[in-house]
Amino acid sequence: MHAESRPISKEAPAAAAERERDYPRIVVPPPGPKGRDIIKRDKQYSSTSYIKEYPLAISHGQGAMVEDVDGNRYIDFMAGIAVASTGYAHPKVVAAVQEAAGKFLHICGTDFYYEGMSAICERLARLAPGQSKTRVFLTNSGTEAIEGAIKLVRNSTRRSDLIAFRGAFHGRSYGAMSLTCSKVLQRAHFGPMLPGVHHAPYPNAYRLGAEANGYEDAGAYSLDWIRKELFHRVVSPADVAAVFIEPMLGEGGYVVPPKDFLRGLRDLCDEHGILLVFDEIQTGVGRTGKMWAAEYFGVEPDVLLTAKGLASGMPLGAIIAKESVMKWESGSHGSTFGGNPVACAAALATLDLVEKELLDNAQKMGKRLLAGLERLQSKYDCIGDVRGVGLFIGVEFVKDRKSKEPAKNLVHDLVQQAFRKGLLLLACGESVIRLAPPLVVDAYDVDTGLQILDETLAELT
Ligand SMILES: Cc1ncc(COP(=O)(O)O)c(C=O)c1O
Repeated sequence: MHAESRPISKEAPAAAAERERDYPRIVVPPPGPKGRDIIKRDKQYSSTSYIKEYPLAISHGQGAMVEDVDGNRYIDFMAGIAVASTGYAHPKVVAAVQEAAGKFLHICGTDFYYEGMSAICERLARLAPGQSKTRVFLTNSGTEAIEGAIKLVRNSTRRSDLIAFRGAFHGRSYGAMSLTCSKVLQRAHFGPMLPGVHHAPYPNAYRLGAEANGYEDAGAYSLDWIRKELFHRVVSPADVAAVFIEPMLGEGGYVVPPKDFLRGLRDLCDEHGILLVFDEIQTGVGRTGKMWAAEYFGVEPDVLLTAKGLASGMPLGAIIAKESVMKWESGSHGSTFGGNPVACAAALATLDLVEKELLDNAQKMGKRLLAGLERLQSKYDCIGDVRGVGLFIGVEFVKDRKSKEPAKNLVHDLVQQAFRKGLLLLACGESVIRLAPPLVVDAYDVDTGLQILDETLAELT
């Protein structure tokens, strides 16, 4: 596996695509000397809030391979937090970016017209799940899409309150942070939050807690909780503008809700004139093997938010809303950089790849990865649950399968040790490893990654 080093081709894209499989390989324990220099500078001057999961200092990447500045090569199972959808430098995306950058870098899409912006708005409007005609507002990030959506739903309904879910992650600006309910660290000492935000239990079948006594279906429990607790004691549904939900929970633990839950939530919203907002910032654009996670449930949201993988890592997000909802007045919302022409070009190239090749690949490779993980689950008792669709897969680690006590230290050690063996992982939730590789991974990447996981677990357990 740790083969002789051969330089990665920097010539024609075709040659790069035929890259040699001399990864993963660790030539110096990371961080090597060049990595240590970068880390030292960073630690001195960068904000103390940055996390830095492990000491990876990237030099370049191709497909699902990342090379660090000291020449170590890794298989990537996290895609820069589910962003590098087409890999790290897909030749078609890079060419689109170069072409757009050579024409103009900025004009401000809020105020003027250009083809790339009209094209991506049209494309996303047509791709949105469901039959309704939609409109699109472009942003620079997921957080900005959330923030804009909070304004949009309030403006549209003339109501104030919002419902989100425990475990949710929607971003870190004030509105988005107020909806976020994942780790208390992300909210501590930043209050007060936006008023009128209520958090309901996210339906997690694996962790249907003691408070859900009597319920067998996590979805029914969550819906009843909103109906019988929230609407009975805390807030009138007539004051609620929207429900914000990740149709599959991301940072909160890669949880897929029970099949009928989102349909039930749709019905509950319709009953009370509440808008339903799907945060597909992590799940969208092919991550789950379908363009949108919503498609698995056959539910049409009123507003859908996307970002992360949309432009392969160039900063672009979008609010896609039913035409009946996106009727705010000209000038009532805008963004200087949102819909930057270079990011639009990257998104159009990304969507071409996702639609033509990567949806299929995510389905196929996702099944292969899931099957491999289930084999590991039968070998290691510490794996409590394996779940997910496409290349959106969570592996939950527990101290024992009966108590389901989260095995936090094991997850920490697994991530660190896998990194040192040439596999990039990322945790989420309490004790979950999320597997969200670039959508271009192939059988070699999947099998080799699984092999390293197996070796690492054997050493740790
Ligand atoms: C579901 C979800 N919503 C919103 C965000 C915030 O997006 P961004 O970091 O681009 O602002 C994230 C980021 O991880 C996310 O996973």
